Amino acid sequence: MKFVIITDPHFVPEGETLFGLDARANLARAVELINRDHPDIALVILLGDLTQRGEPAAYASIAEILAPLKAPLVPMTGNHDAREALRAAFPQTDRDPGGFVQALRVYDDASILTLDTLDEGGGSSAGYLCAERLAFLEQSLGEAPADRPLLVFQHHPPLDTGLEALDRIKLKNPEQEWAVIARTRRPDYLFMGHVHRPVTGLWRGIPFHIQRGVSHQVAFELEYRDGVPGTYEEPDYVLVEAGPGGVVIHQRAFNYAGPRFLMSDKAAQRGPRLG
Ligand SMILES: [Fe+2]
Repeated sequence: MKFVIITDPHFVPEGETLFGLDARANLARAVELINRDHPDIALVILLGDLTQRGEPAAYASIAEILAPLKAPLVPMTGNHDAREALRAAFPQTDRDPGGFVQALRVYDDASILTLDTLDEGGGSSAGYLCAERLAFLEQSLGEAPADRPLLVFQHHPPLDTGLEALDRIKLKNPEQEWAVIARTRRPDYLFMGHVHRPVTGLWRGIPFHIQRGVSHQVAFELEYRDGVPGTYEEPDYVLVEAGPGGVVIHQRAFNYAGPRFLMSDKAAQRGPRLG
């Protein structure tokens, strides 16, 4: 199966900008390319932080931009979101028995488990998996068919990336999440947002992927401690193909509209740079 991941668009109400960026234009470009180039995807996962401050007007703005998307959209929560405002703008938003934005989807080639790490009212940007959400995780890990890859999605990483500004606001209780995984099933891949830059590796043997946001990015400054340093690096979306053969992840700098060249072209090799 194929699917697309986009994350951290951080919308503000239409007419406002955040850090001088036009997230509406960025996301509209991503939607255009996803519709044009990936007609065979099963879904688009939006890995949280749909808005910057959670206002209904910001959700209305992002809902308008995402409306042309042809594939089913799975909105998830991030620390900047507000559950009820999100649900009001996206009626298809998942609701587990505890009221959280979580779901297990089983496809022929893979299972997709989306978790809600928003600590609404917690007074911090860090994430949390309460007892109810951990119980949902345990049940879902037990239910997911054993004969196909299990892919888990959550906004907040349970691990330290080495980016100190982000490590301080990761999931508050990674040991509790790990305890559930250790006694049930180890996911085959873990996908996250929140960090606004590409990071990959292994968390206790589980491969993980973190990608750039649709809006602003986080600077590559590992030891920065005085707030979170932002940048205007170009955004990515991600195309994933998952199945019995494994998992392949493509990152696309979707705003790039410059020229292409053939590497065998002698004139291109000599330059000057095209365009
Ligand atoms: Fe974010």
